Amino acid sequence: MDAVSEAGASEIMREVNIRKRFALHYSIFNINYSIVNEVNDLKELCRKNIWELSPYSSARNEYSGHVARVFLDANENPYNAPYNRYPDPLQQEVKTLVSKVKGVPVDNIFLGNGSDEAIDLPYRIFCRPGIDNVVAIEPTYGMYKVCADINDVEYRPVLLDEHFQITASKLLDACDANTKIIWICSPNNPTGNNINREAIEEVLQKFNGIVIIDEAYSDFSNEKPMRAELRKHPNMIVLNTMSKAWGCAAIRLGMAFASKEIIDIFNKVKYPYNVNLLTQKQAIEALKDPFAVDKWVKILIQERSQLMSTFLELPICEKVYPSNANFFLAKMTDAQSIYDYLVEKGIIVRNRSRIQLCGNCLRITIGTKSENTELVGALRNY
Ligand SMILES: Cc1ncc(COP(=O)(O)O)c(C=O)c1O
Repeated sequence: MDAVSEAGASEIMREVNIRKRFALHYSIFNINYSIVNEVNDLKELCRKNIWELSPYSSARNEYSGHVARVFLDANENPYNAPYNRYPDPLQQEVKTLVSKVKGVPVDNIFLGNGSDEAIDLPYRIFCRPGIDNVVAIEPTYGMYKVCADINDVEYRPVLLDEHFQITASKLLDACDANTKIIWICSPNNPTGNNINREAIEEVLQKFNGIVIIDEAYSDFSNEKPMRAELRKHPNMIVLNTMSKAWGCAAIRLGMAFASKEIIDIFNKVKYPYNVNLLTQKQAIEALKDPFAVDKWVKILIQERSQLMSTFLELPICEKVYPSNANFFLAKMTDAQSIYDYLVEKGIIVRNRSRIQLCGNCLRITIGTKSENTELVGALRNY
């Protein structure tokens, strides 16, 4: 075999191995897609105790087939409806709406107590404490490292370049046989930019473990969301949240989209009633009106572009970085003292100066027009 066809063959084998490893079945709106009908190697990636775990079976899980009227199974109090009853452990009504809005089948959706839960669970499912490691872009959202530390999993940050971009080979070079997860946040926090799609695709094709793409801010981006590519990438988990574009940070509802096999493991490991009734109710209300969100997003993107232009005209602003999120990063002449000055005026932005590649940077979340005007007014008087 010549060198070129040898390289081609090894690429194909790598792809085949990833597909074999995950051997996944996708259920897309009642049609089951089976990519490979071989023994599921997801088992190899999982911690043994998790693979073998018998999950807690809640009272509400155990009956089926009849319309229930009298509930004497869960040691609940019969008074104080509706708060006396445990909520739906698998949040079917919320998931049906999420499925409609996001275009992802119900079987491929996990709902959790904020993205925090969806960030923590993969560590508990895939990473053996003190043995396995994860790789992540740097700088990025801080919770990936906090959860790694809590779970005693080595965290390997790989520095972005000066344009806040990364190559697949840099991320893959940081991996070894014990690397279980690669974290990519896109649009990235705190840099605000999309991570280039070719690098993400290459990592998904070449890495033999789990790749998690956090798309918390993707509603503010013009790039096609990765959740649309679920069927193509059996090793991908995509994270979304109700906390940003949906304006529901208080209710704590995060989502993970992945193969049915991965979602089934998430559901096995999560606390039985991880999303409370009030959150489910409020999420249903919000998800019934996606047009309100479209309107907010449009306004916020417009405000973002105006505020970024205004920042560029401020003598105390040295650079504004491109953004695909509901915030942007601005390099200032003296971030700490500008931050302190704004705090005194009752205006709080995020000082990111101590973060790698973000020296003298403030991270500005886009507010309402009047909030943004107040910020600019204060900065003009600095
Ligand atoms: C990239 C990213 N993911 C997730 C979150 C948190 O989402 P949640 O409120 O759903 O926990 C944040 C919050 O700032 C974030 O920046």
